Amino acid sequence: MKSSPLLPIGLFDSGVGGLTVLAAMRALMPDESYLFLGDTARLPYGTKSPETIARYALQATAKLVERRIKLLVVACNTATSVALPALRAAYPELHVVGVVEPGAEAACAASVSGRIAVIATEATVRGGAYERAILRRRPGAMVQSRACPLFVSMTEDGLVDGPLAEGLAARYLDDMFRVPRERGEKTPDCLVLGCTHFPLLAGAVSRVVGAGVTLVDSAATTARAVRRILDEERLNRPAGATAGVPLCAGSTRFLTTDDVPRFTRMGELFLGMPLTPCSVELVDL
Ligand code: DGL
Repeated sequence: MKSSPLLPIGLFDSGVGGLTVLAAMRALMPDESYLFLGDTARLPYGTKSPETIARYALQATAKLVERRIKLLVVACNTATSVALPALRAAYPELHVVGVVEPGAEAACAASVSGRIAVIATEATVRGGAYERAILRRRPGAMVQSRACPLFVSMTEDGLVDGPLAEGLAARYLDDMFRVPRERGEKTPDCLVLGCTHFPLLAGAVSRVVGAGVTLVDSAATTARAVRRILDEERLNRPAGATAGVPLCAGSTRFLTTDDVPRFTRMGELFLGMPLTPCSVELVDL
């Protein structure tokens, strides 16, 4: 089916982490409308096998496509690393944008020394997509990756700052930053938050790794990549067009696979805006 500028942009994540990408897109493209799916019933994705992650990603995409979207953003690094080729093969006419390439682009732009650390889920680290994407842009880069799976559940519980968050960050990251620094060894100057949940922990992480380390994530670069595609394909929503379209300009609707009140609460916390009860719908994939 041919895409229309009036359709919403679809996004999905395993949970509320992808809202960090949605927030950047709404800031850059306030006149677009958005349909966001959080597969909270099956979170986390990052500890699952590649086969399971790919199946979940295909099901989430099918739900968004059924509701009609003009472009898909895979607002989850895990699903992007594992399932992007399968999604593009299944929906050849749909523009599918992942978050790993934009994250790698942001890292290569931010790092001066070329020593880049990546934190992500187990599945993302295991697949090595960030290393490949960074080395393709910057062949001499030294990339170190670390899986930080507990950051995901911590974020989903709204525990994004304070001693617990900092303690966990120290447990995961001290041997990449504090310990070598104390020995006088070189450490990365850039840390990629390679999971869309992690930008919410940026304060705690930054205090642990030190202010000299630039934290980057995919949100802003992904939003810019989407705008480029909409410009090229003339899929930008024309100002003032509202009649007969699924979502009016500037509006955002949410689908979740579990517990609407919880999704609403966390969504409001992370987006910093009220989600009216009728804008969050329970769906089965
Ligand atoms: N937010 C996701 C990511 O970017 C996945 C978290 C999870 O479900 O493990 O990788």
